[in-house]
Amino acid sequence: MTVSTIVLCAGEGTRMKGQKSKLLHEICGLPLCMYALQAAVDASDGAVVAVLGSRGDSVQKEIEKHFGERITFVWQREQKGTAHAVQQALAAWKDESDTIMVSYGDVPLMTNKELIELQQAQKKAGALVAILTATGENPFGYGRIVRNDAGLISAIVEENDASEEQKLIRQVNAGLYAFDGAFLRANIGTIKASKKGEFYLTDMVALAHETGKKAPGVVAVETTWQNMAGVNDRAQLADARTVIQQRILLNWMKKGVTVINPQQTYVDYSVRLAEDVVLEPGVSLRGECVVQHSSIIGTGSVLSNTYVGAGVHILPYCVCTEAKIESAAKLGPFSHLRKDSHVENDAHVGNFVELKNTTLRAGAKANHLAYIGDADIGAGSNVGAGTITCNYDGFLKHKTITGSGVFIGSNSTLVAPLNIGQNAYIAAGSTIVRDVPEDALALGRSRQENKEHYASALKKRLKKS
Ligand code: UD1
Ligand code: CA
Repeated sequence: MTVSTIVLCAGEGTRMKGQKSKLLHEICGLPLCMYALQAAVDASDGAVVAVLGSRGDSVQKEIEKHFGERITFVWQREQKGTAHAVQQALAAWKDESDTIMVSYGDVPLMTNKELIELQQAQKKAGALVAILTATGENPFGYGRIVRNDAGLISAIVEENDASEEQKLIRQVNAGLYAFDGAFLRANIGTIKASKKGEFYLTDMVALAHETGKKAPGVVAVETTWQNMAGVNDRAQLADARTVIQQRILLNWMKKGVTVINPQQTYVDYSVRLAEDVVLEPGVSLRGECVVQHSSIIGTGSVLSNTYVGAGVHILPYCVCTEAKIESAAKLGPFSHLRKDSHVENDAHVGNFVELKNTTLRAGAKANHLAYIGDADIGAGSNVGAGTITCNYDGFLKHKTITGSGVFIGSNSTLVAPLNIGQNAYIAAGSTIVRDVPEDALALGRSRQENKEHYASALKKRLKKS
Protein backbone atom coordinates (compact mmCIF):
# COMPACT_ATOMS: atom_id res chain seq x y z
CA MET A 1 0.00 0.00 0.00
CA THR A 2 1.43 3.37 -1.00
CA VAL A 3 0.62 6.58 0.81
CA SER A 4 1.40 9.90 -0.82
CA THR A 5 0.81 13.35 0.64
CA ILE A 6 0.01 16.63 -1.06
CA VAL A 7 0.89 19.70 1.01
CA LEU A 8 -0.78 22.90 -0.18
CA CYS A 9 1.62 25.84 -0.12
CA ALA A 10 0.30 28.05 -2.92
CA GLY A 11 -2.10 30.42 -1.14
CA GLU A 12 -1.67 34.19 -1.08
CA GLY A 13 -1.65 34.50 2.69
CA THR A 14 -3.20 37.98 2.45
CA ARG A 15 -4.11 38.15 6.14
CA MET A 16 -0.41 37.93 7.01
CA LYS A 17 0.41 41.23 5.20
CA GLY A 18 3.99 42.09 4.27
CA GLN A 19 6.33 41.05 1.48
CA LYS A 20 7.34 37.54 2.42
CA SER A 21 5.32 34.41 1.65
CA LYS A 22 3.28 33.42 4.69
CA LEU A 23 4.74 29.94 4.44
CA LEU A 24 8.27 31.25 5.01
CA HIS A 25 7.62 33.07 8.27
CA GLU A 26 9.84 31.39 10.82
CA ILE A 27 8.83 29.41 13.85
CA CYS A 28 11.77 28.39 16.04
CA GLY A 29 14.22 28.74 13.17
CA LEU A 30 12.20 26.81 10.58
CA PRO A 31 9.92 28.30 7.91
CA LEU A 32 6.26 27.66 8.74
CA CYS A 33 5.57 25.15 5.95
CA MET A 34 8.46 22.87 6.98
CA TYR A 35 6.46 21.56 9.92
CA ALA A 36 3.62 20.25 7.73
CA LEU A 37 6.16 18.93 5.22
CA GLN A 38 8.16 17.13 7.90
CA ALA A 39 5.00 15.41 9.17
CA ALA A 40 4.18 14.44 5.56
CA VAL A 41 7.67 13.04 4.94
CA ASP A 42 7.50 11.03 8.16
CA ALA A 43 4.08 9.57 7.34
CA SER A 44 4.40 8.82 3.59
CA ASP A 45 6.11 5.98 1.80
CA GLY A 46 5.13 7.43 -1.58
CA ALA A 47 5.57 10.92 -2.97
CA VAL A 48 5.36 14.12 -0.95
CA VAL A 49 4.14 16.86 -3.25
CA ALA A 50 4.26 20.56 -2.42
CA VAL A 51 1.87 22.73 -4.45
CA LEU A 52 3.47 26.13 -5.06
CA GLY A 53 1.94 29.36 -6.29
CA SER A 54 2.10 32.79 -4.69
CA ARG A 55 5.81 33.73 -4.23
CA GLY A 56 6.50 30.09 -5.04
CA ASP A 57 10.11 30.50 -6.18
CA SER A 58 11.24 31.57 -2.73
CA VAL A 59 9.17 28.82 -1.11
CA GLN A 60 10.66 26.17 -3.41
CA LYS A 61 14.20 27.32 -2.65
CA GLU A 62 13.68 27.00 1.09
CA ILE A 63 11.98 23.62 0.83
CA GLU A 64 14.82 22.27 -1.31
CA LYS A 65 17.31 23.53 1.26
CA HIS A 66 15.63 21.46 3.97
CA PHE A 67 14.44 18.36 2.15
CA GLY A 68 16.63 18.08 -0.94
CA GLU A 69 15.02 15.82 -3.53
CA ARG A 70 12.43 14.25 -1.23
CA ILE A 71 9.73 16.74 -2.25
CA THR A 72 8.08 16.90 -5.68
CA PHE A 73 6.96 20.37 -6.78
CA VAL A 74 3.80 21.22 -8.68
CA TRP A 75 2.66 24.72 -9.67
CA GLN A 76 -0.76 26.23 -9.23
CA ARG A 77 -0.37 29.39 -11.31
CA GLU A 78 -3.65 30.94 -10.23
CA GLN A 79 -4.92 30.45 -6.70
CA LYS A 80 -8.45 29.24 -7.29
CA GLY A 81 -8.87 27.37 -4.05
CA THR A 82 -7.76 24.25 -2.21
CA ALA A 83 -9.55 21.76 -4.51
CA HIS A 84 -8.05 23.47 -7.55
CA ALA A 85 -4.62 23.15 -5.93
CA VAL A 86 -5.10 19.40 -5.38
CA GLN A 87 -6.34 19.04 -8.95
CA GLN A 88 -3.17 20.67 -10.28
CA ALA A 89 -1.09 18.26 -8.23
CA LEU A 90 -2.95 15.20 -9.49
CA ALA A 91 -2.76 16.39 -13.10
CA ALA A 92 0.96 17.08 -13.00
CA TRP A 93 2.12 14.03 -11.14
CA LYS A 94 0.89 10.68 -12.35
CA ASP A 95 0.03 8.99 -9.15
CA GLU A 96 -1.45 5.63 -8.30
CA SER A 97 -1.25 5.69 -4.52
CA ASP A 98 -3.90 3.77 -2.59
CA THR A 99 -4.18 6.58 -0.09
CA ILE A 100 -3.62 10.25 -0.82
CA MET A 101 -3.28 12.52 2.15
CA VAL A 102 -3.77 16.25 1.83
CA SER A 103 -2.50 18.76 4.38
CA TYR A 104 -2.05 22.53 4.48
CA GLY A 105 1.32 24.21 4.73
CA ASP A 106 -0.07 26.77 7.16
CA VAL A 107 -1.10 24.21 9.80
CA PRO A 108 2.17 23.56 11.67
CA LEU A 109 1.25 21.77 14.90
CA MET A 110 0.17 18.48 13.42
CA THR A 111 2.74 15.70 13.42
CA ASN A 112 3.04 12.38 11.60
CA LYS A 113 1.06 10.86 14.51
CA GLU A 114 -2.15 12.54 13.31
CA LEU A 115 -1.43 11.66 9.70
CA ILE A 116 -0.94 8.00 10.52
CA GLU A 117 -4.08 7.90 12.70
CA LEU A 118 -6.06 9.29 9.77
CA GLN A 119 -4.65 6.75 7.30
CA GLN A 120 -5.56 3.95 9.67
CA ALA A 121 -9.07 5.29 10.32
CA GLN A 122 -9.78 5.56 6.60
CA LYS A 123 -8.59 2.03 5.89
CA LYS A 124 -10.29 0.48 8.90
CA ALA A 125 -13.68 2.00 8.10
CA GLY A 126 -13.33 1.47 4.36
CA ALA A 127 -14.29 5.15 4.02
CA LEU A 128 -13.65 7.35 1.00
CA VAL A 129 -12.10 9.98 3.22
CA ALA A 130 -11.03 10.37 6.84
CA ILE A 131 -10.86 13.94 8.09
CA LEU A 132 -9.28 15.43 11.18
CA THR A 133 -11.60 17.50 13.34
CA ALA A 134 -11.40 19.53 16.55
CA THR A 135 -13.93 21.12 18.82
CA GLY A 136 -13.51 24.51 20.48
CA GLU A 137 -15.21 27.56 21.92
CA ASN A 138 -14.49 29.86 19.01
CA PRO A 139 -14.87 28.09 15.65
CA PHE A 140 -14.82 31.36 13.67
CA GLY A 141 -13.01 31.09 10.35
CA TYR A 142 -12.86 27.30 10.20
CA GLY A 143 -14.99 24.95 8.11
CA ARG A 144 -17.88 23.55 10.21
CA ILE A 145 -18.60 19.82 10.38
CA VAL A 146 -22.21 19.22 9.34
CA ARG A 147 -23.93 15.91 10.22
CA ASN A 148 -27.14 14.30 8.98
CA ASP A 149 -29.93 12.99 11.18
CA ALA A 150 -28.10 9.70 11.62
CA GLY A 151 -25.12 11.59 12.99
CA LEU A 152 -22.93 10.88 9.94
CA ILE A 153 -20.73 13.66 8.55
CA SER A 154 -22.48 14.92 5.44
CA ALA A 155 -20.55 18.11 4.58
CA ILE A 156 -18.04 20.75 5.61
CA VAL A 157 -19.38 24.29 5.32
CA GLU A 158 -16.98 27.21 5.14
CA GLU A 159 -17.47 30.34 7.28
CA ASN A 160 -18.63 32.43 4.30
CA ASP A 161 -21.24 29.92 3.22
CA ALA A 162 -22.50 28.86 6.65
CA SER A 163 -26.04 29.65 7.80
CA GLU A 164 -26.49 31.26 11.24
CA GLU A 165 -27.40 27.86 12.58
CA GLN A 166 -24.33 26.19 11.05
CA LYS A 167 -22.09 28.92 12.46
CA LEU A 168 -23.00 27.64 15.94
CA ILE A 169 -21.39 24.25 15.21
CA ARG A 170 -18.29 24.00 17.31
CA GLN A 171 -16.69 21.00 15.61
CA VAL A 172 -14.47 22.16 12.77
CA ASN A 173 -12.24 20.91 9.98
CA ALA A 174 -8.58 20.81 11.02
CA GLY A 175 -7.44 20.65 7.39
CA LEU A 176 -5.94 17.17 7.18
CA TYR A 177 -7.43 14.45 4.96
CA ALA A 178 -6.76 10.81 4.07
CA PHE A 179 -8.53 10.10 0.78
CA ASP A 180 -9.07 6.85 -1.00
CA GLY A 181 -6.75 7.53 -3.95
CA ALA A 182 -9.07 6.31 -6.70
CA PHE A 183 -12.01 8.32 -5.31
CA LEU A 184 -9.98 11.53 -5.15
CA ARG A 185 -8.56 11.12 -8.66
CA ALA A 186 -11.98 10.37 -10.15
CA ASN A 187 -13.87 13.23 -8.49
CA ILE A 188 -11.59 16.20 -7.85
CA GLY A 189 -12.53 17.67 -11.25
CA THR A 190 -16.26 17.65 -10.48
CA ILE A 191 -16.21 20.25 -7.70
CA LYS A 192 -18.18 23.42 -8.45
CA ALA A 193 -17.02 26.95 -7.70
CA SER A 194 -18.17 28.46 -4.39
CA LYS A 195 -19.90 31.84 -3.98
CA LYS A 196 -16.42 33.37 -3.81
CA GLY A 197 -15.47 31.67 -7.08
CA GLU A 198 -13.05 29.30 -5.35
CA PHE A 199 -12.99 25.52 -5.59
CA TYR A 200 -13.06 24.12 -2.06
CA LEU A 201 -11.45 20.79 -1.23
CA THR A 202 -13.90 20.58 1.64
CA ASP A 203 -16.67 19.96 -0.91
CA MET A 204 -15.16 16.50 -1.48
CA VAL A 205 -16.59 15.58 1.90
CA ALA A 206 -20.23 15.99 0.83
CA LEU A 207 -19.41 14.03 -2.31
CA ALA A 208 -17.82 11.22 -0.27
CA HIS A 209 -20.87 11.12 1.96
CA GLU A 210 -23.21 10.80 -1.04
CA THR A 211 -20.99 8.25 -2.79
CA GLY A 212 -20.21 6.01 0.19
CA LYS A 213 -22.52 2.99 -0.01
CA LYS A 214 -21.41 -0.05 1.97
CA ALA A 215 -19.53 1.97 4.58
CA PRO A 216 -19.86 5.59 5.70
CA GLY A 217 -18.22 7.78 3.09
CA VAL A 218 -16.62 10.01 5.69
CA VAL A 219 -15.08 9.24 9.07
CA ALA A 220 -13.46 11.66 11.50
CA VAL A 221 -10.57 11.55 13.92
CA GLU A 222 -10.74 14.19 16.62
CA THR A 223 -7.62 16.09 17.68
CA THR A 224 -7.12 18.82 20.29
CA TRP A 225 -8.11 22.41 19.64
CA GLN A 226 -4.57 23.50 20.22
CA ASN A 227 -3.03 21.13 17.65
CA MET A 228 -5.31 22.06 14.80
CA ALA A 229 -4.53 25.78 14.87
CA GLY A 230 -3.87 27.24 11.43
CA VAL A 231 -1.67 30.29 10.86
CA ASN A 232 -3.43 32.98 8.84
CA ASP A 233 -2.15 36.13 10.56
CA ARG A 234 0.72 37.19 12.80
CA ALA A 235 -1.21 36.72 16.03
CA GLN A 236 -1.80 33.07 15.11
CA LEU A 237 1.87 32.83 14.12
CA ALA A 238 2.84 33.90 17.64
CA ASP A 239 0.39 31.41 19.19
CA ALA A 240 1.76 28.53 17.10
CA ARG A 241 5.29 29.58 17.98
CA THR A 242 4.52 29.39 21.70
CA VAL A 243 3.24 25.82 21.34
CA ILE A 244 6.18 24.66 19.21
CA GLN A 245 8.68 26.30 21.55
CA GLN A 246 7.18 24.55 24.56
CA ARG A 247 7.28 21.22 22.70
CA ILE A 248 10.97 21.70 21.89
CA LEU A 249 11.80 22.61 25.49
CA LEU A 250 9.75 19.75 26.93
CA ASN A 251 11.65 17.31 24.71
CA TRP A 252 14.98 18.60 26.07
CA MET A 253 13.77 18.63 29.67
CA LYS A 254 12.80 14.96 29.30
CA LYS A 255 16.34 14.31 28.10
CA GLY A 256 17.91 15.88 31.19
CA VAL A 257 18.26 19.58 30.37
CA THR A 258 17.32 22.12 33.07
CA VAL A 259 15.25 25.00 31.75
CA ILE A 260 14.76 27.45 34.59
CA ASN A 261 11.89 29.35 32.99
CA PRO A 262 10.46 27.71 29.87
CA GLN A 263 8.26 30.73 29.15
CA GLN A 264 11.35 32.88 28.67
CA THR A 265 13.70 30.51 26.87
CA TYR A 266 14.08 30.35 23.10
CA VAL A 267 15.57 27.24 21.54
CA ASP A 268 15.38 26.64 17.81
CA TYR A 269 14.23 23.38 16.24
CA SER A 270 17.72 22.38 15.06
CA VAL A 271 19.58 23.00 18.34
CA ARG A 272 21.15 19.97 20.09
CA LEU A 273 21.58 19.83 23.87
CA ALA A 274 23.19 17.27 26.18
CA GLU A 275 22.33 16.12 29.71
CA ASP A 276 22.74 18.50 32.64
CA VAL A 277 22.89 21.58 30.47
CA VAL A 278 21.31 24.53 32.31
CA LEU A 279 19.49 27.27 30.39
CA GLU A 280 18.85 30.38 32.45
CA PRO A 281 15.93 32.72 31.67
CA GLY A 282 16.18 34.87 28.55
CA VAL A 283 18.57 32.56 26.72
CA SER A 284 18.19 32.33 22.97
CA LEU A 285 19.82 29.46 21.06
CA ARG A 286 19.43 29.93 17.32
CA GLY A 287 20.14 27.81 14.28
CA GLU A 288 22.48 24.88 14.62
CA CYS A 289 23.78 25.39 18.15
CA VAL A 290 25.20 22.40 20.03
CA VAL A 291 25.71 22.49 23.80
CA GLN A 292 27.55 19.57 25.43
CA HIS A 293 26.88 18.19 28.90
CA SER A 294 26.93 20.22 32.12
CA SER A 295 27.36 23.59 30.46
CA ILE A 296 25.50 26.60 31.83
CA ILE A 297 24.18 29.29 29.51
CA GLY A 298 23.59 32.50 31.46
CA THR A 299 20.62 34.84 31.39
CA GLY A 300 20.14 36.91 28.26
CA SER A 301 22.81 35.17 26.20
CA VAL A 302 22.15 34.84 22.47
CA LEU A 303 24.02 32.07 20.64
CA SER A 304 23.70 31.46 16.90
CA ASN A 305 25.20 28.45 15.11
CA THR A 306 27.65 28.06 17.97
CA TYR A 307 29.29 24.97 19.45
CA VAL A 308 29.68 24.84 23.23
CA GLY A 309 31.76 22.01 24.71
CA ALA A 310 31.21 20.30 28.07
CA GLY A 311 31.37 22.11 31.40
CA VAL A 312 31.48 25.57 29.84
CA HIS A 313 30.12 28.43 31.90
CA ILE A 314 28.66 31.33 29.96
CA LEU A 315 27.81 34.14 32.35
CA PRO A 316 24.88 36.47 31.52
CA TYR A 317 24.50 38.59 28.39
CA CYS A 318 26.98 37.07 25.97
CA VAL A 319 26.44 37.16 22.20
CA CYS A 320 28.14 34.42 20.17
CA THR A 321 27.77 33.94 16.43
CA GLU A 322 29.29 31.02 14.54
CA ALA A 323 31.77 30.46 17.34
CA LYS A 324 33.32 27.41 18.96
CA ILE A 325 33.77 27.31 22.72
CA GLU A 326 35.54 24.22 24.04
CA SER A 327 35.18 22.41 27.33
CA ALA A 328 35.57 24.17 30.68
CA ALA A 329 36.00 27.56 29.03
CA LYS A 330 34.48 30.56 30.77
CA LEU A 331 32.77 33.48 29.09
CA GLY A 332 31.19 36.74 30.14
CA PRO A 333 29.38 38.55 31.43
CA PHE A 334 28.98 40.69 28.29
CA SER A 335 31.39 38.92 25.93
CA HIS A 336 30.97 39.15 22.18
CA LEU A 337 32.23 36.28 20.04
CA ARG A 338 31.85 37.03 16.36
CA LYS A 339 32.18 34.75 13.36
CA ASP A 340 34.93 32.14 13.54
CA SER A 341 35.97 32.79 17.10
CA HIS A 342 37.43 29.72 18.73
CA VAL A 343 37.89 29.59 22.47
CA GLU A 344 39.82 26.47 23.46
CA ASN A 345 39.66 24.44 26.68
CA ASP A 346 39.88 26.39 29.94
CA ALA A 347 40.31 29.72 28.17
CA HIS A 348 38.55 32.76 29.66
CA VAL A 349 36.85 35.65 27.90
CA GLY A 350 35.63 38.41 30.18
CA ASN A 351 33.39 41.45 30.09
CA PHE A 352 33.39 43.75 27.07
CA VAL A 353 35.80 41.58 25.15
CA GLU A 354 35.12 41.16 21.44
CA LEU A 355 36.70 38.35 19.44
CA LYS A 356 36.50 38.01 15.66
CA ASN A 357 38.09 35.26 13.57
CA THR A 358 40.36 34.60 16.51
CA THR A 359 41.60 31.54 18.33
CA LEU A 360 42.24 31.84 22.03
CA ARG A 361 44.25 28.71 22.74
CA ALA A 362 43.92 26.50 25.82
CA GLY A 363 44.06 28.34 29.11
CA ALA A 364 44.55 31.78 27.51
CA LYS A 365 42.74 34.72 29.07
CA ALA A 366 41.30 37.98 27.83
CA ASN A 367 39.38 39.11 30.86
CA HIS A 368 38.46 42.75 30.30
CA LEU A 369 37.75 45.34 27.61
CA ALA A 370 39.56 44.16 24.50
CA TYR A 371 39.16 43.79 20.74
CA ILE A 372 40.98 40.83 19.25
CA GLY A 373 40.43 40.31 15.55
CA ASP A 374 42.14 37.96 13.05
CA ALA A 375 44.44 36.65 15.78
CA ASP A 376 45.84 33.45 17.20
CA ILE A 377 46.65 33.83 20.89
CA GLY A 378 48.93 31.06 22.22
CA ALA A 379 48.11 28.70 25.07
CA GLY A 380 48.25 30.16 28.56
CA SER A 381 48.77 33.71 27.27
CA ASN A 382 47.28 36.70 29.06
CA VAL A 383 45.70 39.57 27.15
CA GLY A 384 45.53 42.65 29.39
CA ALA A 385 42.60 45.03 29.76
CA GLY A 386 42.25 47.49 26.90
CA THR A 387 44.31 45.50 24.37
CA ILE A 388 43.42 46.21 20.78
CA THR A 389 44.55 44.41 17.65
CA CYS A 390 44.82 46.87 14.77
CA ASN A 391 43.92 44.24 12.18
CA TYR A 392 42.61 46.51 9.43
CA ASP A 393 44.55 49.16 7.53
CA GLY A 394 41.55 50.45 5.66
CA PHE A 395 42.12 48.02 2.79
CA LEU A 396 43.23 44.63 4.06
CA LYS A 397 42.93 42.53 7.19
CA HIS A 398 46.16 41.34 8.86
CA LYS A 399 46.92 38.67 11.42
CA THR A 400 48.34 38.83 14.92
CA ILE A 401 49.96 35.58 16.04
CA THR A 402 51.42 34.93 19.46
CA GLY A 403 53.23 31.91 20.85
CA SER A 404 52.26 30.33 24.15
CA GLY A 405 52.78 31.94 27.55
CA VAL A 406 52.82 35.49 26.19
CA PHE A 407 51.95 38.36 28.52
CA ILE A 408 50.34 41.35 26.84
CA GLY A 409 50.23 44.29 29.24
CA SER A 410 47.13 46.43 29.59
CA ASN A 411 46.26 48.97 26.95
CA SER A 412 48.57 47.51 24.34
CA THR A 413 48.01 48.33 20.69
CA LEU A 414 49.07 45.48 18.44
CA VAL A 415 49.52 46.70 14.87
CA ALA A 416 49.15 43.69 12.55
CA PRO A 417 50.68 41.86 10.79
CA LEU A 418 52.53 40.79 13.88
CA ASN A 419 54.28 37.74 15.32
CA ILE A 420 54.99 37.61 19.03
CA GLY A 421 57.29 34.76 20.13
CA GLN A 422 56.48 32.45 23.01
CA ASN A 423 56.91 33.73 26.56
CA ALA A 424 57.45 37.28 25.31
CA TYR A 425 56.32 40.14 27.53
CA ILE A 426 54.68 43.30 26.19
CA ALA A 427 54.88 46.24 28.58
CA ALA A 428 51.59 47.93 29.41
CA GLY A 429 50.62 50.85 27.21
CA SER A 430 52.84 49.75 24.31
CA THR A 431 52.17 50.27 20.64
CA ILE A 432 53.76 47.24 18.99
CA VAL A 433 54.53 47.59 15.31
CA ARG A 434 57.32 45.05 14.82
CA ASP A 435 57.59 41.33 15.57
CA VAL A 436 58.69 40.43 19.09
CA PRO A 437 61.14 37.52 19.49
CA GLU A 438 60.63 34.66 21.92
CA ASP A 439 61.23 35.59 25.58
CA ALA A 440 61.81 39.29 24.74
CA LEU A 441 60.44 42.25 26.68
CA ALA A 442 58.92 44.74 24.27
CA LEU A 443 58.42 48.36 25.29
CA GLY A 444 56.71 50.50 22.77
CA ARG A 445 56.10 53.76 24.57
CA SER A 446 57.98 56.96 25.45
CA ARG A 447 60.13 56.94 28.57
CA GLN A 448 58.65 58.49 31.70
CA GLU A 449 60.28 61.55 33.22
CA ASN A 450 59.75 62.57 36.91
CA LYS A 451 60.46 66.19 37.92
CA GLU A 452 61.01 66.22 41.69
CA HIS A 453 58.88 68.68 43.75
CA TYR A 454 57.46 70.10 40.57
CA ALA A 455 53.80 69.39 41.33
CA SER A 456 53.20 71.98 44.07
CA ALA A 457 55.14 74.68 42.16
CA LEU A 458 53.05 73.98 39.08
CA LYS A 459 49.81 74.18 41.03
CA LYS A 460 50.80 77.55 42.50
CA ARG A 461 51.62 78.94 39.09
CA LEU A 462 48.37 77.74 37.60
CA LYS A 463 46.31 79.21 40.46
CA LYS A 464 47.77 82.70 39.89
CA SER A 465 47.05 82.81 36.19
C1 UD1 B 1 -9.08 25.89 5.27
C2 UD1 B 1 -10.29 24.98 5.07
C3 UD1 B 1 -11.16 25.02 6.34
C4 UD1 B 1 -10.33 24.57 7.52
C5 UD1 B 1 -9.03 25.38 7.64
C6 UD1 B 1 -8.11 24.73 8.66
C7 UD1 B 1 -10.85 25.01 2.69
C8 UD1 B 1 -11.76 25.53 1.64
N1 UD1 B 1 -11.07 25.44 3.91
O1 UD1 B 1 -9.53 27.22 5.43
O2 UD1 B 1 -12.26 24.16 6.20
O3 UD1 B 1 -11.10 24.69 8.71
O4 UD1 B 1 -8.33 25.43 6.40
O5 UD1 B 1 -6.95 25.49 8.90
O6 UD1 B 1 -10.01 24.18 2.38
N2 UD1 B 1 -3.92 27.13 -0.77
C9 UD1 B 1 -3.41 26.79 -2.01
N3 UD1 B 1 -4.04 27.23 -3.13
C10 UD1 B 1 -5.18 27.94 -3.10
C11 UD1 B 1 -5.72 28.28 -1.84
C12 UD1 B 1 -5.08 27.86 -0.69
O7 UD1 B 1 -2.36 26.12 -2.09
O8 UD1 B 1 -5.69 28.29 -4.18
C13 UD1 B 1 -3.22 26.68 0.45
C14 UD1 B 1 -2.79 27.83 1.36
O9 UD1 B 1 -1.44 28.19 1.06
C15 UD1 B 1 -2.90 27.20 2.74
C16 UD1 B 1 -3.97 26.14 2.60
O10 UD1 B 1 -4.11 25.90 1.23
O11 UD1 B 1 -1.69 26.58 3.13
C17 UD1 B 1 -5.32 26.55 3.19
O12 UD1 B 1 -5.79 27.73 2.58
P1 UD1 B 1 -6.42 28.92 3.40
O13 UD1 B 1 -6.85 29.96 2.44
O14 UD1 B 1 -5.52 29.31 4.50
O15 UD1 B 1 -7.75 28.19 3.97
P2 UD1 B 1 -8.56 28.52 5.31
O16 UD1 B 1 -9.45 29.69 5.06
O17 UD1 B 1 -7.64 28.59 6.45
CA1 CA C 1 -5.40 28.60 6.69
